[in-house]
Amino acid sequence: MATTGSEAVLPIREGEKKPSSEQQIDPWDVQAGHDENGNALAFDYAAISQKWATKLIDDALLERFERLTGHKPHRWLRRGLFFSHRDFDRILDRYEAGEPFFLYTGRGPSSDALHLGHTIPFSFTKWLQDVFDVPLVIMLTDDEKALFKEKLTFEDTHKFALQNAKDIIACGFDLKKTFIYSDLEYISGHFLMNVWEFSKLVTFNQVRGAFGFNESTNIGRIMFPAVQCVAAFATSYPEIWADEPAKERTKALAKIPCLIPMAIDQDPYFRLVRDNAHRMKNPSPKPALIHSKFLTALQGAGGKMSASDPNSAIFMADTPNQVKASPRCPIHQNKINKHAFSGGRETLEEHRELGGIPEIDVAFQYLSYFEDDDEKLKKIEDGYRSGELLTGELKKMAIELIQGYVKDFQARRKEVTDDLLKQYMTPRKLEWKGNPNPKPK
Ligand code: TYM
Ligand code: TRP
Repeated sequence: MATTGSEAVLPIREGEKKPSSEQQIDPWDVQAGHDENGNALAFDYAAISQKWATKLIDDALLERFERLTGHKPHRWLRRGLFFSHRDFDRILDRYEAGEPFFLYTGRGPSSDALHLGHTIPFSFTKWLQDVFDVPLVIMLTDDEKALFKEKLTFEDTHKFALQNAKDIIACGFDLKKTFIYSDLEYISGHFLMNVWEFSKLVTFNQVRGAFGFNESTNIGRIMFPAVQCVAAFATSYPEIWADEPAKERTKALAKIPCLIPMAIDQDPYFRLVRDNAHRMKNPSPKPALIHSKFLTALQGAGGKMSASDPNSAIFMADTPNQVKASPRCPIHQNKINKHAFSGGRETLEEHRELGGIPEIDVAFQYLSYFEDDDEKLKKIEDGYRSGELLTGELKKMAIELIQGYVKDFQARRKEVTDDLLKQYMTPRKLEWKGNPNPKPK
């Protein structure tokens, strides 16, 4: 695969000295840890993949993807931002065989605007929807965020959910093929039946370790994983498959698997559903997963961009100047912690002589995520490495690219009316090519 130095751009630094024991990743807490001197470390994604026994995405898988779909892999696949999976190859098998599957992803509404990091799984999912031409469900876990954030009420998170849905629509999803729902509004009927059935299969012991629960955890939190898990079952959404009232949780629907794009922090939920899907009354296949790395927090490589910490993120509602202005800016912080986050040298002379190190440069990392042109990126990489390009020039390019990405998003966001939101959020039969419309048995 002609990747523009994908290894060099975003290396999975195997064997590098990083105490992975200090790395903390679960759906609510993501920290890469620190070294002896208190410097934030970068995430060790190879270690996460190994620990959780996921598969790394390799060139052979991407080549097969391209052969089957006729689409060049998205730059986030080529550049290793989406780096890991479970059973993505099985989804390709189904695609090849013309068998149905669907896409499922989600958002936990903890603030009123999406940040740049959130748009990674959503923009990627939109691209997958175009490539595969399959139905998509998007879950807004307004129940989860009120349960897990002391300060937020269910009214707050529900309001955020509707706002976030508009941002999600602005990522470009096809209305005909997309159903977006708020947990607090939608969960009833078939979905709720699945939640209870699943909850009966899972003990407290099974979730306590995976989610860090203890005896003082409120019982809403303990129950919640069942909700996010059964969202992966086609039987939770009988309306999207057929107009006629589907007979309750049919065997045929249960057999349709989904592919879940997300950042790796959500994996614990889906390990749980993969372990138990076959035990449902109408057994389901294990959902397939495709995992991204975290878009780096503005403070640096040791954290993820997070909506609950406004200083860590570029929000999709930010003006061009806010995108650029410190302190909300990785590159600015980059100056503070030069050794961790900039690949530039101390002095101009040194930089010209020794060249920069793109592998550890935050601005270069952003360029590699947002510049689609492989050749252009390669030129930038070479120029920086040779010392011809300066750190400031790299920063300027990164800022301009992100400003463009945010501007395009905002133009689409302006078009999202309350009425359009309502259409996306109405349970209805979705339309896509080769609709299998499986008949209830
Ligand atoms: P939430 O709202 O925390 O995040 C939404 C999606 O964005 C991903 N993400 C990031 N991706 C890249 N860089 C970052 N810095 C970054 N921060 C967050 C998350 O992994 C997620 O994919 N419980 C979920 C909502 C949910 C869900 C799902 C997510 C329900 N069902 C299925 C994915 C798939 C949540 O709170 O996501
Ligand atoms: N203001 C930052 C600086 O000191 C640059 C910056 C802000 C930036 N936001 C960004 C760079 C987002 C890349 C991506 O140079």
